[in-house]
Amino acid sequence: MTDSSTRDFYDSLAPDYHRIFADWDASMARQAAVLGALLGPGPHRVLDCSCGIGTQAIGLALAGHRVVGSDLSPVAATRAAAEATARGARLPTAAADMRRLPFASSVFDVVVCADNSMAHLLTASDVAAALADMRRVLREGGRLLLTLRDYDELRRTRPGAAPPQVSEGSDGRVITFQLWHWHEDGERYDQEYFQLRPGGDEWAVQVRRTTSWALTRAQLTRFAGAAGFVDVRWHDPASSGFYQPVLTARAAG
Ligand SMILES: C[S@@+](CC[C@H](N)C(=O)[O-])C[C@H]1O[C@@H](n2cnc3c(N)ncnc32)[C@H](O)[C@@H]1O
Repeated sequence: MTDSSTRDFYDSLAPDYHRIFADWDASMARQAAVLGALLGPGPHRVLDCSCGIGTQAIGLALAGHRVVGSDLSPVAATRAAAEATARGARLPTAAADMRRLPFASSVFDVVVCADNSMAHLLTASDVAAALADMRRVLREGGRLLLTLRDYDELRRTRPGAAPPQVSEGSDGRVITFQLWHWHEDGERYDQEYFQLRPGGDEWAVQVRRTTSWALTRAQLTRFAGAAGFVDVRWHDPASSGFYQPVLTARAAG
């Protein structure tokens, strides 16, 4: 999978991305509350380096943090800024690859990389480059907050699909679900991402495709250590209240 196909995938999905949530605003508020509790009292200078349409960034900005968003998808990044403005929050955004962040060194207290964004990097050198650049833009002692699917479990069970999500909008119900096709290495998988929307008596079906690397916690912990992070910890959903495992770490001096 090339960078441009990941970008095209999210550019094309950006106008509909909120439809994977039953209630996007409620999800934003819930996620910001959980991530904010992990960060402690602020305000913090936050970079969300895979902000998408702003699911975490907008909630954190509304909670009073000074948030900048960036994302590989220019369409998503532009929408994130507009959605923030519509909610009375300030969220400057930029189109940027997390492996080459266009920010000065040591300027953020926190880097967020949430909801499985890291899984789009498919090689060890790409993951290492991204974590090294996240470390670079953090001040000494600054924090990384990264969330990923529970791939330890998913690599054991190798599911062929992810459960459907249903959102209700003015145009009716939209159903989103994914089929997963595991590669022979047992670590990577191709995703077929279906969105079904009502179209009279029929359903209109749109399919988009991308590839992910199912990194285990041990793998990502090693990458984070090698990139200059210390105090690497995993918080499972039962303890954090977030719907995915969350990695927290500190930028070493
Ligand atoms: C599953 S979405 C999550 C977006 C957002 N955090 C949310 O929860 O709504 C994954 C995001 O990662 C972004 N992404 C993928 N590869 C990236 C890269 N190399 N650099 C920056 N962003 C990337 C995609 O464009 C997409 O917006």
